[in-house]
Amino acid sequence: MKLMIVIGSVRPGRVGLPVGEWVRSEVEADGRFELDWADLAEIDLPWMDEPKHPSLRQYTKPHTIAWSERVDAADAFIFVTPEYNHSYSPALKNAFDFLNNEWWRKPIAFVSYGGVSGGSRGVAAFDPVYTTLGAVKTTANVEIPFVSKLISDGVFTPTEKETAILHKVIAELESLGTALKALR
Ligand SMILES: Cc1cc2nc3c(=O)[nH]c(=O)nc-3n(C[C@H](O)[C@H](O)[C@H](O)COP(=O)(O)O)c2cc1C
Repeated sequence: MKLMIVIGSVRPGRVGLPVGEWVRSEVEADGRFELDWADLAEIDLPWMDEPKHPSLRQYTKPHTIAWSERVDAADAFIFVTPEYNHSYSPALKNAFDFLNNEWWRKPIAFVSYGGVSGGSRGVAAFDPVYTTLGAVKTTANVEIPFVSKLISDGVFTPTEKETAILHKVIAELESLGTALKALR
């Protein structure tokens, strides 16, 4: 199965990149998924600019067609994301809004980070978005409070707790991914 890791923050100097690199190294070491690394800063989607509702899949822009093909090819997702003002990252929401059926019955997980809440309010705010699109979230979530304390020279060093939960997330994505594939 193919797992897409999505970096959901696009700011210069974002913490999302080192956290995402840690996630990538753990998924690679685990070895059970083929990887697609989707950094939303590199992908550089504009604000959703399709004239027709995405459920019709009548995309008119090359960036939408490319994003659709990539998401379509993935069997599972990990979103590495901050919370901004107690809500989700707008870049991540925009990337979701571009598409529709491509998310249907796909397993997703969040690695969130921030201050005291570990980004959990941002993930909670995202609940109506992915549920209306038919994606299914893992029970395990990696939540990283006070993330800046765990970053030095651009490298994120997790605690044992975060690594243990990420391993649970990877296992859950595999089992959910197998079950949901049958439903698609
Ligand atoms: C616009 C903005 C809003 C923020 N809002 C929150 C917040 O609601 N809760 C929180 O814990 N941290 C918040 N922070 C702090 C972020 O957790 C911290 O800056 C983190 O590095 C952001 O992720 P990023 O570097 O990947 O963009 C906010 C940061 C920014 C830039």
